Amino acid sequence: MQPDNLIYDLRPETREKEDGRPADARPTEAVRLTDTGAVLKSWILPTGNSFIKDPAKRYQRPAGDPGLDFPFTNAGFNDSAWQPVDLPHDWAINGPFYKGWGAEIGGGMGRLPVQGVAWYRKKIKLPATDAGKKIFLDVDGAMSYAMVWLNGHLVGGWPYGYTSWRLDLTPYISFGGENQLAIRLDNPASSSRWYPGGGIYRAIWLTKTNPVHIGQWGTFVKTSQLSTSAAKVDCSIFIDNNGDADGIVDVATALYLLDSKGKKAGPPVAETKTIKAALKANGSDTVVSSFTITHPKLWKPLPHPTHDQYVAITTISRKGVLLDTYETPFGIRDIRFDAEKGITVNGERVFLKGVNQHHDLGALGAAFNVRAAERQLEMLREMGCNAIRMSHNPPAPELLDLADRMGFLVIDEIFDCWELKKTPLDFHLIFPDWHEQDLRALIRRDRNHPSVMMWSIGNEVGEQYTDEKGAALARNLYAIAKEEDSTRPVTTAMNYAKPDMPLPAMVDIIGLNYQGEGIRNSGAYAGLKGISTPPLFPAFHKKFPRKVILSSENASALSSRGEYLFPVFDGNSAPVKEGEGGDSATQQVSSYELYSVGFGASADKVFATMDQHPYVAGGFVWTGWDYLGEPTPYYLSRSSYSGIIDLAGFKKDRFFLYQSYWRPQLPMAHILPHWNWPARTGLVTPVHVFTSGDEAELFLNGRSLGKKKKAPYEYRLRWDDVRYEPGELKVVAYKNGKKWAADTVRTTDGPYRLELSVDHPVLMADGQDLSFVTVRVTDKDGWTVPDAKNKLTISIAGPGTIVATDNGDAADLVSFPSPEKKAFNGLCVVIVRSRAGRSGTIRVNAGADGLISGTILIKTVKGKE
Ligand code: GAL
Repeated sequence: MQPDNLIYDLRPETREKEDGRPADARPTEAVRLTDTGAVLKSWILPTGNSFIKDPAKRYQRPAGDPGLDFPFTNAGFNDSAWQPVDLPHDWAINGPFYKGWGAEIGGGMGRLPVQGVAWYRKKIKLPATDAGKKIFLDVDGAMSYAMVWLNGHLVGGWPYGYTSWRLDLTPYISFGGENQLAIRLDNPASSSRWYPGGGIYRAIWLTKTNPVHIGQWGTFVKTSQLSTSAAKVDCSIFIDNNGDADGIVDVATALYLLDSKGKKAGPPVAETKTIKAALKANGSDTVVSSFTITHPKLWKPLPHPTHDQYVAITTISRKGVLLDTYETPFGIRDIRFDAEKGITVNGERVFLKGVNQHHDLGALGAAFNVRAAERQLEMLREMGCNAIRMSHNPPAPELLDLADRMGFLVIDEIFDCWELKKTPLDFHLIFPDWHEQDLRALIRRDRNHPSVMMWSIGNEVGEQYTDEKGAALARNLYAIAKEEDSTRPVTTAMNYAKPDMPLPAMVDIIGLNYQGEGIRNSGAYAGLKGISTPPLFPAFHKKFPRKVILSSENASALSSRGEYLFPVFDGNSAPVKEGEGGDSATQQVSSYELYSVGFGASADKVFATMDQHPYVAGGFVWTGWDYLGEPTPYYLSRSSYSGIIDLAGFKKDRFFLYQSYWRPQLPMAHILPHWNWPARTGLVTPVHVFTSGDEAELFLNGRSLGKKKKAPYEYRLRWDDVRYEPGELKVVAYKNGKKWAADTVRTTDGPYRLELSVDHPVLMADGQDLSFVTVRVTDKDGWTVPDAKNKLTISIAGPGTIVATDNGDAADLVSFPSPEKKAFNGLCVVIVRSRAGRSGTIRVNAGADGLISGTILIKTVKGKE
């Protein structure tokens, strides 16, 4: 990288490496620096002007053209030696991983090379006939501190890497010629508590409009009245006139039902008469159209989603000439929040069976991919999950489209910190200048999604500790949220604020992180250092009898898929410690699913607290899937241990514990651990069963080990004194006295062959679609060998590429694109991407020394129905 001085702003020096700082450590004061003027933020700040309410606070672009002479911003620079990339792109995900203590990027940020400056360049041609049009660059997310030059001129940018933003390129465009776009990104180390990714990692668009056009995210559709026979829908349309002449335009909107593929179906269900809008030169106007839809089809969440959505199609024309068309998909639903009944949607109570999700897609990194995100949601749905908290930043817009389509309810969250910092260079540095723009941008972008049920203004912010001062900031953010959307409640996630502190009073919904079930308060947790509280659901309920309470985070339970450590804790929840659920030598946590972070709790403990406080609206587990970074308790690793599903997409045992609780009507039983313990013959090897039944009988080699029944507030059945002998374990579960489900686990033979299976055997040949191929190490009878760690070699032929391989082992530092990877406890995933425009057959082969190799075929087709 050629050094440049094009930095957004000065940054405090970071001396200490803070890797492994506990997630609930108290945030600290910012280090304030004096602007020397030698930075570019004054040119960047005006980009956010349309999100600043007070005109007096908007920014003027200073004179001057910083970077005009810097080679990368200029068309003449020869970039032929640069690496060509496809977008979306994450520059860090291919590694290699940093190893060891004191690394440049430690475990907290995922040990991947996210830090530093990167440039992206692209030449853009626009025909001369476009002169007079507006040309915008729309960026769904660029990590981070984006600054954009066009033909050498600094146009603007946006620091927060998760926000979607727009730049007006028009003043710098050469119509009829070639234009040089150059984007500089700059990721500081020590800027995140998790893996942020690096690059233009979400979609990016060139948008062309007439000077009179519907603004960015320029509609807001609200349902103002709803009954079974009719819905009244108000559609606000924000029109910009970027031209130099006043004018009158005709605005017309029609509503259509969308079909299951998201296409408009049939004739309009409602239309308005054309409305005239009088637009001043360089001005804007808002028109509101109201509609009545008779017998509306309602959007419904899981478990019985209807997918029913509408689209509002708005046109603007002048004297019969069409100027703009704008489509706004939306849904009609009635969500109510009640302190006793929790959340009801269309009159039915929906207990929130939620999970927290970070933005990365495992081995694919931050680069957004619709299929990978859909796969995450499909598995969560199978578990019974119906809600997602987007922790702790704006998600990719397509993820909300998926949530709409699949029926997940969403908490859309904006910040992990405000003015006080959690890591030395995190968002607190830009919060004072940007919080209003970021928050308004999130809400304007996302407020038409039926899945979004509330806004969260922050996660465990340091301002919980600063009483009135912190509350004042919360009040300010709350007010902004309400100005942008008065239809949805606002929450914030609190792990420290108590009922009598000022912060909780500032929000509509009480979001508790871990405090509901109590933090470090009892049993194996008592005496640990850090925040400690009793179970606080009752105290909050008493203090706020009209507010809904939910667990914005609970559990933070930890485990490594398929790893079991002995002895096994005899209670229902304990913090991971050396030799007690954890092994620092292997960096693995036991999958008996009883262990958590110091401030967390097992699923069993959370379920019991929920059931004892039925007014609680439900909660969000930390986390649904494992994610990159934050590998508590082993910071030499690369990824988390908290997922119910591992990073590769394999189910941990916990998946079945949640499924048993969240889908009580699904007959299922699941035994743990596996039964390959040659060194434990004769030793006590506890057997636990997760079932949606209420009792079960366990058999070892045909002998009954007794029938057990769940006591109140018990969620697993446990046979803690089983002595290991090889053979077969079988469980038969009962519900209300009737046979309900069964499961078998048996001692397998050694590794014999590799078996491949695939989620999607037919791919779209679009260069984006993915197949996830599972490689299983099996014995000669086809049973997965549950402790197999054979080294696999993957190869591919035909029109597909191996994007990544992963085994879900948080401690594995072999880079993701490597075609050689060890199986982790019998499994490995191979992620295969189609090639654009190339149909045919892809052949994926897996081999390992001494094993019979396996092959699978995947088709790619040009137009998949
Ligand atoms: C919470 C925090 C999450 C995550 C989690 C890990 O305190 O809000 O972002 O860090 O702990 O256990």
